[in-house]
Amino acid sequence: MSLLSRLKEKDTEGDKKASDVQKGPKQQSPPKPEAEKKEPTPKKPIIKKPERSSDNEKDKQLKALLHKQILQEMKESDDIDVIVPKIEEMAIEIIKEDESFRGADRKKIVDELTNDLTGFGPINPLLLDDDVSEIMVNGPNRVYCERKGKLVLTDVKFRDNEHVMHVIEKIVAPLGRRVDESSPMVDARLPDGSRVNAIIPPLSLNGPTITIRKFSEDPFVIDDLVQFGTLTKEMAIFLDACVKARLNMFVSGGTGSGKTTTLNVLSNFIPSDERIVTIEDAAELQLGQDHVVSLESRPPNIEGKGAITIRDLVRNSLRMRPDRVVIGEVRGAEALDMLQAMNTGHDGSLATGHSNSPRDMISRLETMVLMAGVDLPVKAIREQIAGAIDVIIQQSRLKDGSRKITKITEVQGLEGDIIVLQDIFTYEQKGLDENGKVIGELMSTGVRPKFYERLENSGITISSEVFMTKEEWAG
Ligand SMILES: Nc1ncnc2c1ncn2[C@@H]1O[C@H](COP(=O)(O)OP(=O)(O)O)[C@@H](O)[C@H]1O
Ligand SMILES: [Mg+2]
Repeated sequence: MSLLSRLKEKDTEGDKKASDVQKGPKQQSPPKPEAEKKEPTPKKPIIKKPERSSDNEKDKQLKALLHKQILQEMKESDDIDVIVPKIEEMAIEIIKEDESFRGADRKKIVDELTNDLTGFGPINPLLLDDDVSEIMVNGPNRVYCERKGKLVLTDVKFRDNEHVMHVIEKIVAPLGRRVDESSPMVDARLPDGSRVNAIIPPLSLNGPTITIRKFSEDPFVIDDLVQFGTLTKEMAIFLDACVKARLNMFVSGGTGSGKTTTLNVLSNFIPSDERIVTIEDAAELQLGQDHVVSLESRPPNIEGKGAITIRDLVRNSLRMRPDRVVIGEVRGAEALDMLQAMNTGHDGSLATGHSNSPRDMISRLETMVLMAGVDLPVKAIREQIAGAIDVIIQQSRLKDGSRKITKITEVQGLEGDIIVLQDIFTYEQKGLDENGKVIGELMSTGVRPKFYERLENSGITISSEVFMTKEEWAG
């Protein structure tokens, strides 16, 4: 059986305490050719005496015994690839020698220990479950996940805080980072690209806390989003045309509303003969084109030095002869540089930002520009915004966990002091069905965008059906 399929087995580690068997390692275990066996002398008692006996007492004892042997083995060689294949063998040996272990769930125990050694312990099965998109560990006993858009409490449990800490260390150590009181918050990545944040006591009161946003090897494409009902086919045709016509587009929405996913889908509409520079805090975008340069910002080091911000990268990207600049999330001073770039020939740029509506996004952008420390009058800032951004795509996570593009809005320009916005597509929520699923309708408002000519001038024709309203469809 392959290691992967072993890891896929459900990890049912469910006990707060590891148990002790007080037997010590068996001296008759498989002979080691390399070195003399030493007694393990762990500083802290990793294995504790059981308080009461239970049905799976045998399992616990066997696991504890195996754990000790593994620790001992690791003193001689900490090469996991050498140790892991031996675990099963060790277990068989122990059971052979001690009748009382007959009937223990050997396979489960070996899998759990293998998970602890090679993977990320009890959360391994969640990491391998394709239906799970996010994993949240709030201390050892409350592990949540997002499964098909819904937040659920899982039955996964860690032994104790130390066990969670061990997993955090395992995640961050290969990146040369550490977690301890002097740096109690850390961002990291799993080898598969999943994003991890860990925060530990005393900052987190629930115990060590881990949040993982899983990397999808197989990112959503436009057809997936249409199938999920995030947008209609007509909206998809429209957005594709907007990207091809080099409009500047901004995806706006709350955390987890699917902004990055939509940005990824939009970016994949960019023709493959263009040079794309992507800028992100943590690289999440997965573009299908060949000619892509991905840039990632860098947090300051422990002395607070060496930070490279999104703004630094935006500025630098303009010297890289980009045809397109794609910015993962705009949240500060980089807004000014982005708008200036969009206004000075770098059209066709794409970005996301955090906000509740297109109008709100505009006012947030104003605030962000002010964060750049330039003394621009509000009117000038609005001119910049109105001149730069053509389309705002508003995205939401609805009550039932589904993601919707609730508005596609054109930024038409400045009238007096006001930026004029015109919705092209909207979502109308009608209520909930008996299963709690949101019912609603995505429709064109019937208004053709002012930039329609620009689309045509770029040689893009969109069927007039795309802009037909519900009434027109019905009639
Ligand atoms: N249209 C969608 N339908 C269903 N799930 C989605 C959709 N877009 C994103 N998701 C899922 O929602 C989670 C958050 O998506 P992400 O794009 O990272 O959001 P944001 O960038 O707004 O924080 C991911 O797990 C992703 O797989
Ligand atoms: Mg995002």
